[in-house]
Amino acid sequence: MPVTHPSFGTLDPDRIIFFDTTLRDGEQSPGFSMNLEEKLRMAEALHELGVDVIEAGFAIASPGDFESVRSIAQLFAKDGPVVASLGRANPADILRSAEALKPAARKRIHIVLATSDLHMRVKLRMTRDEVVELTTSSVTLGRQHSDDVEWSAEDGSRSDPDFLCRCVEAAIKAGATTINIPDTVGYSMPADIGAIFRDLRERVPGADTVVFSAHNHNDLGMAVANTLAAINAGARQIEATINGIGERAGNASIEEVAMALRTRHDVLPFKNSIQTPRILRTSKLLATITGFDVQPNKAIVGRNAFAHESGIHQDGVLKDASTYEIMTPESVGWTTNSLVLGKHSGRAAFRDKLKALGYGEIGDNQLNDAFRRFKDIADRKKVVYDEDIAALVDDEVVRGHD
Ligand code: KIV
Ligand code: ZN
Repeated sequence: MPVTHPSFGTLDPDRIIFFDTTLRDGEQSPGFSMNLEEKLRMAEALHELGVDVIEAGFAIASPGDFESVRSIAQLFAKDGPVVASLGRANPADILRSAEALKPAARKRIHIVLATSDLHMRVKLRMTRDEVVELTTSSVTLGRQHSDDVEWSAEDGSRSDPDFLCRCVEAAIKAGATTINIPDTVGYSMPADIGAIFRDLRERVPGADTVVFSAHNHNDLGMAVANTLAAINAGARQIEATINGIGERAGNASIEEVAMALRTRHDVLPFKNSIQTPRILRTSKLLATITGFDVQPNKAIVGRNAFAHESGIHQDGVLKDASTYEIMTPESVGWTTNSLVLGKHSGRAAFRDKLKALGYGEIGDNQLNDAFRRFKDIADRKKVVYDEDIAALVDDEVVRGHD
């Protein structure tokens, strides 16, 4: 039976809801905080990218956070994504979220409560029964202020499975419409995550009436793999951030999840609303706003993601890009791939570069001499720029005329 959700209506069972938390969990990366104007620009860009839910902040965290949630709620007062605000399982947090979200056309109160024995004992100092009771009372209060309530089991992946089932059942009974199971500390492996979602969906009464959501951190570099494992085990919402920013090693990155779903549709046959050609500009906007560039080898959006340096690869790409590219650069917003000239590059790429620089007519002897001198330069410099090549060929042409 398809799930009927208060914000999305009857859901196609193959549809994945993209919940963006760049402005909340992402902003929790040290040094990544954003001001109101920057958050509004990001929120617009995320809307254009096609995310379904924007977690605008943690309304009670500070007056600035409240203002950000409120302003993003105003931005989407007529239509647009669902706007969410996070709060802990207490009345003050929930009421503050509700207040900040008021202007939004579609709003979600997101409540988080830890369910692992470690967190309950050390951090909350609460018993299991108390946590179950608080789940019920906090979700009940949330539902008095919004039809769309998400309940998150913090450290859910390290929680006792039977107790997690108990809490999820209580949250569903109290009216939660999305159940999020975070791998808060990025400890899990894909098989663990798959087992958790399967177990909950099989064992908890009412599980077929809600959307299950995955929220994975990247401490072991598993966030995206875990997110895909959760989808395969029935999760239909994924929580992620642009460029994978977030607490510590970050969260699953939206661009990687979206492109895995698009590129490997053969094994992940799911739909989503992400406009993938807008990925690069959204990534660059975030980098400009925060002042942190992504690493060059970052999948999809790193500057080397579609760059080829070795001769064998360049030769292949010049013949047919699919030899070394599993998606087109245009599909994620790059205008083209790039053949970077360095010491591993071959004659084919060198000739291609000369053509692009307007030296298409150069004779074979001059090409050979220029290529030899280019290899000498490439041994000394990490990158050989277009100007170096132009200077070198001009010199060859002049010599050729001597
Ligand atoms: O990682 C986490 O557990 C969270 C929750 C607040 C959803 O970010
Ligand atoms: Zn998180």
